[in-house]
Amino acid sequence: MDKREIIQKTEQYVRSLLENDASGHDWWHIDRVRRMGTTLAKKEGADEFIVEMAALLHDVADEKIAGNEEKGLSAVTSWLEQMPLSNDDKEHIIDIISSVSFKGGQGKKPHTIEGMVVQDADRLDAIGAIGIARTFMYAGSRGHLMHDPFLPYREKITKEEYRQGRSTAINHFYEKLLKLKEWMNTESAKQIALKRHEFMERFLYQFYQEWDEQYENVNG
Ligand code: ADP
Ligand code: NI
Repeated sequence: MDKREIIQKTEQYVRSLLENDASGHDWWHIDRVRRMGTTLAKKEGADEFIVEMAALLHDVADEKIAGNEEKGLSAVTSWLEQMPLSNDDKEHIIDIISSVSFKGGQGKKPHTIEGMVVQDADRLDAIGAIGIARTFMYAGSRGHLMHDPFLPYREKITKEEYRQGRSTAINHFYEKLLKLKEWMNTESAKQIALKRHEFMERFLYQFYQEWDEQYENVNG
């Protein structure tokens, strides 16, 4: 089995796992992260094969899909065991996957350039127009409101609060999305993040303008 086949087989495996997923980790998110990862890997001189494998598998270990993180990581480990990879490569991929997740700000900093690239690619998919769309999808799936002017956003949140606490789509911008541009590991990702960040600011500006207009009309 050559590297291309390993990628193809892994792609099929991930597709079949995510087919019925409704938690916002649809296959197209994985595909975007893999493509962005490959682009960043070229610019940053990272190993494209490792980046692509880790990107494809990065959400298999997500607690929302696997039930909990350990179960997810062991699923990834057993998958990699079946592939003709060196132990170093397997360990590297597992190490990347266990560090990419955000978890309310408590994600670990990756140890290698390949890890940094995958984490950046995942975070880039959370911002900009697509990031905005994903945020409203997620909020809808959790039964959260899109906005509640009386629900303040949370300054500091634990991993549990990040997953379970009540939030709104708009609060999620302040709890996570607007912080991400500062959190990019690589220069290439920072440049892309800056543009996407500006777009989110314009979106919020317009959102509040429309929101406030309604109240001005009613009261005046
Ligand atoms: P990933 O595992 O891809 O890094 P998450 O599982 O944390 O991302 O979230 C999936 C998507 O839903 C992301 O775009 C994220 O920004 C968004 N999201 C996560 N938590 C919330 C929330 N409380 N409210 C709205 N959107 C959220
Ligand atoms: Ni992801």
